[in-house]
Amino acid sequence: MTPVIAGNAENPRTLITENTAIVAPRLVPEISLHLADEDLPLYRAGEDELTALGIGTPYWAFAWAGGQALARYVLDNPDVVAGKRVLDFGAGSGLVAIAAAKAGAAEIIAADIDPVAAEAMSLNGALNGVDFSMTTEDLIDTDGGWDPMLIGDVCYDKEIADRLLPWLRGLAAVGRTVLIGDPGRFILRDMGLETIAAYHAETTGIMEDSDLRNARVWRFSG
Ligand SMILES: C[S@@+](CC[C@H](N)C(=O)[O-])C[C@H]1O[C@@H](n2cnc3c(N)ncnc32)[C@H](O)[C@@H]1O
Repeated sequence: MTPVIAGNAENPRTLITENTAIVAPRLVPEISLHLADEDLPLYRAGEDELTALGIGTPYWAFAWAGGQALARYVLDNPDVVAGKRVLDFGAGSGLVAIAAAKAGAAEIIAADIDPVAAEAMSLNGALNGVDFSMTTEDLIDTDGGWDPMLIGDVCYDKEIADRLLPWLRGLAAVGRTVLIGDPGRFILRDMGLETIAAYHAETTGIMEDSDLRNARVWRFSG
């Protein structure tokens, strides 16, 4: 029998609180998030069940390897964000935005086109005692003067990478710091990216092809 999933797109707060557990990602133990774990139905929900709930893939319910690496890097190198106007693009759970807030960013905007992610970010921000702005607007090809721009695990398919990377390259070329956390997907090869940190991040085997991934922080050179 298919287990019942509480909540839906109309009631995202219930969807999140009833279908996640509060967990600290292994690489970032100082941050707790509402995340799906193996015992919870949302973790194993198929496309039909998600469609019936009116939601897309719940990316916000996982702490992705690239996001964990970027959050770790920001916490260990607070100068990258301290006192600055930061963008967390493709924020999902808000992990990187929360790390930036803890590291002393002056202003943070966390952007994710999924409205359920915005609700998850709001809950996760409160859980960690930090506050930041959020938008569900697609910011690609806009410029809000963000510096640095932090991108945690968003190059997961060619369609998004083909839109995202030219935008990032353009802003890096005018001097913005653009940092990408990623397990090293083929899409990023030959992009002239500079590795500035490397980690082992544990993730969930169901969303990735392995539950232990090497994740790097890459800097887009201008
Ligand atoms: C794999 S998740 C990464 C989440 C988080 N940064 C992390 O590392 O845990 C990618 C996220 O990018 C978001 N996304 C995809 N296209 C986007 C766009 N054009 N603008 C903003 N967010 C987008 C998805 O909704 C998803 O939440």
